[in-house]
Amino acid sequence: MMELEQLFLKRQSTRKYCDKPVTDEELEKICRMGALAPSAKNSQPWKMFAVNGEKAKEFAPCVQMFGANKWTSACPAFIAIELNRGKLAEKISEIYTFADFSGNDIGLLTAYITLAAEDMGLQTCILGIRDEKKIAKFLGEPEGSKFPLVIAVGHAEEGYPVRTKDRKPFEDVFKLIK
Ligand SMILES: Cc1cc2nc3c(=O)[nH]c(=O)nc-3n(C[C@H](O)[C@H](O)[C@H](O)COP(=O)(O)O)c2cc1C
Repeated sequence: MMELEQLFLKRQSTRKYCDKPVTDEELEKICRMGALAPSAKNSQPWKMFAVNGEKAKEFAPCVQMFGANKWTSACPAFIAIELNRGKLAEKISEIYTFADFSGNDIGLLTAYITLAAEDMGLQTCILGIRDEKKIAKFLGEPEGSKFPLVIAVGHAEEGYPVRTKDRKPFEDVFKLIK
């Protein structure tokens, strides 16, 4: 297992994948690791759909809205995250929007998934550009289902560089109070 800081530095949005397939077992393991993520009230408001092989080729247009993410046509696998809050929680969060932490929960799940994949030698890219209607139809889920994020998964093309992280100066985002 990689040292945690190295893992954080190595995880990056990968947009060029080689032909090497991702196994169903790898996808399942990644999602099992993701499912360990914490969530508000342990609500776990998610369902993960792993799309692999030929199905991934068919799925790619679901994340190519407005002509974006064209590179996903060569991506061997995807994990689509469905928002699955349950009927009561959905009603409550519609009324008490301040108590809706599902966005945070999905974000945490996504972080766990991308880091777990990287630790297993796979690369990822989080995809916010997606067509939720198309995804619901593709996965046979009810109309109106929400898919807040999709994650591209695969093996980076050979020689794909690990980029230096492009982040705000740390002093701008951190303040120590003592
Ligand atoms: C919520 C979210 C949505 C994103 N959507 C896309 C996307 O649709 N397409 C894409 O190529 N990258 C997408 N990204 C990747 C970001 O551009 C990327 O994480 C950011 O530039 C930092 O780079 P890094 O991931 O390589 O560290 C998304 C990232 C997040 C967190």
